[in-house]
Amino acid sequence: MWKVRTLLELITIEMKEAFVKAGYGEELARVTLSNRPDLCEYQCNGAMAGAKKYKKAPIMIAEDVVANLAESQCFAQAEAVKPGFINLKLKPEFVAEYLNEMAADENLGVEKEAEPKTVMIDYGGPNVAKPLHVGHLRSAIIGESIKRIIRYKGNKVTGDIHLGDWGYQMGLIITELKKRQPDLPYFDESFGGEYPEEAPFTISELEEIYPTASAYAKEHEDYREEALHATYLLQNGYKGYRAIWKHIMNVSVTDLKKNYERLNVEFDLWKGEADAQKYIPGMVEMLKEKGFAHYDQGALVVDVAEETDNKEVPPCMILKSDGAALYDTTDLATLVEREELYQPDEVIYVVDKRQELHFIQVFRCAKKTGIVRPETELKFLGFGTMNGKDGKPFKTREGGVMRLENLIREIDEEMYKKIMDNRTVEEADARKTAAEVGLAAIKYGDLSNQASKDYIFDVDRFTSFEGNTGPYILYTIVRIKSILKKYAENGGNAEGAKILAAENAAEKALMLQVLKFNEVIDTVYAETAPHKLCAYIYDLANEFNKFYHETKILSEEDEAKKSGYIALLNLAKKVLETCIDLLGFTAPERM
Ligand code: ARG
Repeated sequence: MWKVRTLLELITIEMKEAFVKAGYGEELARVTLSNRPDLCEYQCNGAMAGAKKYKKAPIMIAEDVVANLAESQCFAQAEAVKPGFINLKLKPEFVAEYLNEMAADENLGVEKEAEPKTVMIDYGGPNVAKPLHVGHLRSAIIGESIKRIIRYKGNKVTGDIHLGDWGYQMGLIITELKKRQPDLPYFDESFGGEYPEEAPFTISELEEIYPTASAYAKEHEDYREEALHATYLLQNGYKGYRAIWKHIMNVSVTDLKKNYERLNVEFDLWKGEADAQKYIPGMVEMLKEKGFAHYDQGALVVDVAEETDNKEVPPCMILKSDGAALYDTTDLATLVEREELYQPDEVIYVVDKRQELHFIQVFRCAKKTGIVRPETELKFLGFGTMNGKDGKPFKTREGGVMRLENLIREIDEEMYKKIMDNRTVEEADARKTAAEVGLAAIKYGDLSNQASKDYIFDVDRFTSFEGNTGPYILYTIVRIKSILKKYAENGGNAEGAKILAAENAAEKALMLQVLKFNEVIDTVYAETAPHKLCAYIYDLANEFNKFYHETKILSEEDEAKKSGYIALLNLAKKVLETCIDLLGFTAPERM
């Protein structure tokens, strides 16, 4: 028995011994997954690499090594093939033993970080009082998954929504409100700052006020000036406007929470740009005092260009000539705040990749000026655009900006129809199931693409029960659940049952896929790449379905064999459920 490590680590140990015993360096003993699955399961190309050093034909080295693998614990077959590859197949008993250890381990063989890091993830980033649109969807979906993955590896992770709650949109709303309800106490000079409970608008009114005001301001110079001035007054502590701001925040945040809950996205912190404002004066003072900041045409800036830049990186803008703070300022002040309150080892920003330059400027400035410690890692994880089938940014049928709510409704409708057609779910539950499967369709559709790339959001494809889709993954999990349920209903009890050595190719292929779990998690974690987790579960689902079609599971007469299958199914289910949890969705009982 061994402490579960990744399978590759285990078999590499044996391979090293074989190299050393044959008189070669152990550094040659690197084992990888086979790129010719038709010939072998794993392979080692070390003999090729050693030819020069040992002045020997690679095939001779490979043969020497293979001779030492005859008594192997893990390999059923180790073959030297020309020009010098070592082709490997695992012993079915070894595979089964590995899987049993994995099943017994509470972390399924995943090793937790020995020195957990404190990580903050800045994601979501909705703008208060503006409707959520599909652009915000990606940040929420990707950020949530990354948060779960990093946390799963044992780190201390905090997800911060970083609300856009301090901008011009607030001035616009105040201005429009004043036009409509000039008698509100907030507009009275004598307003003392007390905060009345009832908001002067509902969420639907608020959702209408912003676009109306925004459109009007574009046409009317005076109105725009007024809104800018209102923004200025708000930001400088004008009591009546502060009170309206609080109302806007309360009403919007309640609504945002509902939306994110529907998406299974959970923030630990509901901080925003407004929270960072109080750190600005001290920060500006420091930047001036230490000589980092200088005035350029009236604006206060910090140079961040570096000699090796092959593209121009403009200075970080700290204050405009009228003294107003900017986007750069707020993000820097937020880092001051984060440093003061949480001392993160790492801050990851999940934001549209078109904002990359802004983050390059902010990161450089924060490092150079000591706002963060030199060892703090600042990472920008830029994502691409979600496009429609026409390859252009996703729009409604009428060509307008697609609101998140509407997109979700569309997917839910589609799922509802399919689920009703399948007739496996009672009508009363169909809506709930449709919402659950719909969310998987959206999230998997998004996460299965490399985050930095643009992708096409294709409702028909994403909601399909077949192919590389969320519903297909859920369908596979539901299938496993239903077999396990039937087994239990028929009086079966596989508690303590062990997975047995595979007897056929489909069974072994499934096992080989299950046991990669911890390696995949490590890669996905190291590369912050949820799309690789999607690729893994898609392969796993395929292997399971192949196995299912070729194997009589419940009608197997040999009880030991049957409970071995059940143990394998239990493990496959646990792995799949863990993975979808890391992707941020769940599976129903039926669909
Ligand atoms: N609210 C911003 C937007 O919608 C995104 C915020 C990203 N995070 C940040 N720390 N700047 O564009």
